[in-house]
Amino acid sequence: MKIFADTAIIKEIEEVSKWGIISGVTTNPSLIAKSGISLEEAIKKIVGLVDGPISAEVAEADAESMVEEAKIYAAMHKNIVVKIPMTIEGVKAVKILSSMGIKTNVTLVFSVSQALMAASAGATYVSPFLGRLDDLLKQDDAGFNLLKDIKEMFRTYNFKTQIIAASIRHLNHVNQSIKSGADIATIPYNVLKEMVKHELTDKGLQIFREAAKK
Ligand code: E4P
Repeated sequence: MKIFADTAIIKEIEEVSKWGIISGVTTNPSLIAKSGISLEEAIKKIVGLVDGPISAEVAEADAESMVEEAKIYAAMHKNIVVKIPMTIEGVKAVKILSSMGIKTNVTLVFSVSQALMAASAGATYVSPFLGRLDDLLKQDDAGFNLLKDIKEMFRTYNFKTQIIAASIRHLNHVNQSIKSGADIATIPYNVLKEMVKHELTDKGLQIFREAAKK
């Protein structure tokens, strides 16, 4: 499973890109607002830090305007993937953009039928949201079950659309993404740091360091 960074904060991307394991970046309007810079500024900086798919989300709501906005972002760099919301207008826009060879990431996906709509329109990626679905249904495996169902559906019908597990809040979501066979997980900075940690690693390291001194 590929690891994407789910952030638009440049300092965070600078740091995690140095680890050598980040294959792409996803942003959304909330993450851009948090970063304190515009989407255009963020795109320019991120493409210089990570050589992989960078998702930039459209603000427009009707298909024609989404396509025009998408063309602007796609023209900024070859790695730009245009993030399109799961609406009827979004589906129409994805169909047009895929015929133009512009890559898309259909976002705010919470059901298998939505994933089918996105894939049928030719989406490059779909982003099922684990955290938000778990919160809504007050379960800790609702997002996991959704990932598994979408994976099975794509396999059954031979869709090439890749699954990006999104809205990841903790390590269990990362583990669920791996177990489901998601192609990618887009992971926030705090969870990326948690992924290398284990209390026995810290304990073992301390013992080895003390032994090395002797
Ligand atoms: C990424 O593509 C999504 O926009 C992001 O993971 C959403 O995360 P959130 O539910 O924590 O806002």
